[in-house]
Amino acid sequence: MGNHSDGAQEVSSVAVSSTEGTRDSFPDPGLPPHSPRLTDISSKKAKSAERGVILLFLVSILGALLFWVAYFGIKIGGDYYDVLNPEPTNQLRLQNLLLGLGIAFSMFGIGIGIVQWARALMPDHEMSESRHAVRTEEDRADAVEIMDTIIDESGIKRRPLLRNTLIGSVILAPLTFVTLLRDLGPADPSVLKYTLWDKGVRLVRDPSGTPIKAADVTLGSAYHVLPESLSSLSHENGYIEEKAKAVVLLMRLDPAEMKISEERKDWHVDGIVAYSKVCTHVGCPIALYEQRTHHLLCPCHQSTFDAADECKVVFGPAGHALPQLPITVDSQGYLVAQSDFHEPVGPGYWERGQHTKEMKGEA
Ligand code: FES
Repeated sequence: MGNHSDGAQEVSSVAVSSTEGTRDSFPDPGLPPHSPRLTDISSKKAKSAERGVILLFLVSILGALLFWVAYFGIKIGGDYYDVLNPEPTNQLRLQNLLLGLGIAFSMFGIGIGIVQWARALMPDHEMSESRHAVRTEEDRADAVEIMDTIIDESGIKRRPLLRNTLIGSVILAPLTFVTLLRDLGPADPSVLKYTLWDKGVRLVRDPSGTPIKAADVTLGSAYHVLPESLSSLSHENGYIEEKAKAVVLLMRLDPAEMKISEERKDWHVDGIVAYSKVCTHVGCPIALYEQRTHHLLCPCHQSTFDAADECKVVFGPAGHALPQLPITVDSQGYLVAQSDFHEPVGPGYWERGQHTKEMKGEA
């Protein structure tokens, strides 16, 4: 033990003397010799670099304009684009492509333009500054002087076209992202309050559109269902939007296994229940029905709803149960809605409680 300790001290003392020797043996290398750039020695090259930077800023501005043309100009299902692209999905693809290209050019132009400006046109002399004690007032004055020098040396004052294209691209590029905030929800949130379901509207299979007789729905089966009145809509007058709100899952459970509240005791037909397919988390379509457990699963973030217990949330981030569609049968034995949903479908929004009351006629 004693020997080991002595050995460690010996190694340590050798290391210290080696470090001290190293410090003395290397002189300060200083800055490498300055080599001027082509743009420093040739005004022609400087002018051409300036034109290149201006071009990149113009690309950024044009990218932002392309974004807005695609965003506001392409109407999904609109009249004049039907001539070129009869399929709404093609229009959607075209719009997404142009939106992406617009944002990409806008960001690429401004980013590469600034880098190119700094590399080719901004002053290129090396400077070093020694560290010194903090002197509040003097340092502040020095900082102001340095900023003034940077603005002078950047050439922004004597290159007005470069300055103007820079200002244009810096303003327009971020506005493309601000524009996208419009899509966080409909301009009029009241459109989320109602769907096409109404008293007497038949439930039809998606996509065949055939009505469903209660006798055809066997225990354990499940159907994707739409309101029959949806077929009268075209893409121009809101088919996709109304379909997205009205989609429903229809299942038959054993009434003995169901927990039914007093308010909803007449909302099912011998265990046949209908629930909104729109997840109450962020609106993905609920796609999986687990017959044995009666669980409905959302594939997006795994929210799980119990169809035997009024589709209450049993797992996952969804904040509330799936809205139930009250159903009954008509004189011919076909399943029909008793009314619209009694609360808004899909994710909650700020006035959800108030809207639910209004739909129930309580407000
Ligand atoms: S959208 Fe269904 S769990 Fe997130």
